[in-house]
Amino acid sequence: MKQFRDRVAVITGAASGIGRALAERFAEEGMRLVLADIDAAALSGVADALGASGATVLPVHTDVSKAADADHLADAAWSAFGAVHLLCNNAGIACEGVPAWEQTPETWTRVLAVNLWGAIHGVRAFVPRMIADGHEGHIVNTASAAGLRTGPFVSPYYASKHAVVAFTESLHFDLQLAGSKLKVSALCPAFVKTSIADHSPGFPPAMRARVDAGMEPRDIAQRVLEAVRDEKFWILTHPEFDELIRTRLEGMLQGENPVPHVFGTTPQPTNPKLP
Ligand SMILES: NC(=O)c1ccc[n+]([C@@H]2O[C@H](COP(=O)([O-])OP(=O)(O)OC[C@H]3O[C@@H](n4cnc5c(N)ncnc54)[C@H](O)[C@@H]3O)[C@@H](O)[C@H]2O)c1
Repeated sequence: MKQFRDRVAVITGAASGIGRALAERFAEEGMRLVLADIDAAALSGVADALGASGATVLPVHTDVSKAADADHLADAAWSAFGAVHLLCNNAGIACEGVPAWEQTPETWTRVLAVNLWGAIHGVRAFVPRMIADGHEGHIVNTASAAGLRTGPFVSPYYASKHAVVAFTESLHFDLQLAGSKLKVSALCPAFVKTSIADHSPGFPPAMRARVDAGMEPRDIAQRVLEAVRDEKFWILTHPEFDELIRTRLEGMLQGENPVPHVFGTTPQPTNPKLP
C-alpha cells in the first residue's frame, strides 16, 4: 500500500506499547484511525491525545478474544469511515514463566484466546469486507520472535505466537491464490519497551528487565510502516535473534535435538524456573 493519507487503519491493543506507537505513526501519515483495546480508560486517553494533535480517531472498546467484539469493531469502522485499508491485529498478552506442565488451563485458554483467536476473529470480521470493497489494503498480525524460535518456561506464549505466524502465512497464500489486492505481514519483534509485563499476570521478572531494555515502540512502528509500503511479509526487527532462528532451523534439518536458550544463554538444569 503506497498511499496512507486519509486511508483507514484499525489497530487492536492500541492503548499501549506497540499498538499505541502504530497509531501515532499512522496518524503522522494522515491516516484515519479506529483504535481498539480492552482497557477503556487507557484507550480513551490515547484517542484524546491523538485527537488533540489533529488526528481523526474512533476508539472502540473491544475484547479481541470475543467474536462478537470483533464484529462490532468492524461494524463501527465501516459505519464511521466506509472502508478499512490497514488492519493491525496487535493485542496480545504474555504469561507466567513456569515449566509447561505447570501452566494452568486458565493461562492456556487466556493466552490462546487473546493472541491467536484475537487475530483469527480480526481476519474473519474484516477480511471478507476488505476483499468485497476491492481496493488495496494490508493486514499486519503481531506475532513475535517467539513465533520463530522456542524456549523454556512460557510455552503458552511460544505456542500462541507460532500459531499466529502459521495462520498469517496461510492468510498470505490464500489471498494470493484468490487474486486479492490485500497484502499481509507478520510482525516478529523480540524485546520492545512496552507495558506488556504489567498487562500479563505473573510475567517473569527476568523477562521484564529485558522488555524494559528493549527497542522503542516507535522504531517498531516505523518498520511496520515501511513493510506495508514495500509489501514485505516478514518484519523481523531484532537482528541479534536471527542466529537463534537460523540455529533452530538448521538443527531441525540436521536431526539435532533442540538446545534450550533463554535470552541467548543456556539455562542450567539446577535452575529450571525463570526467576
Ligand atoms: N513488548 C515486547 O517485548 C513484545 C515482543 C514481541 C511481541 N510482542 C507483541 O506485541 C503485541 C503488543 O504488545 P505490547 O508489548 O505493546 O504490550 P502492551 O501490554 O503495552 O500493549 C498491549 C495492549 O493490548 C491490550 N489488550 C490485552 N488484552 C486485550 C484484549 N483481550 N482485547 C483487546 N486489547 C487487549 C492491552 O490493554 C494493552 O493496551 C502483543 O501481541 C505482544 O505479544 C511484544
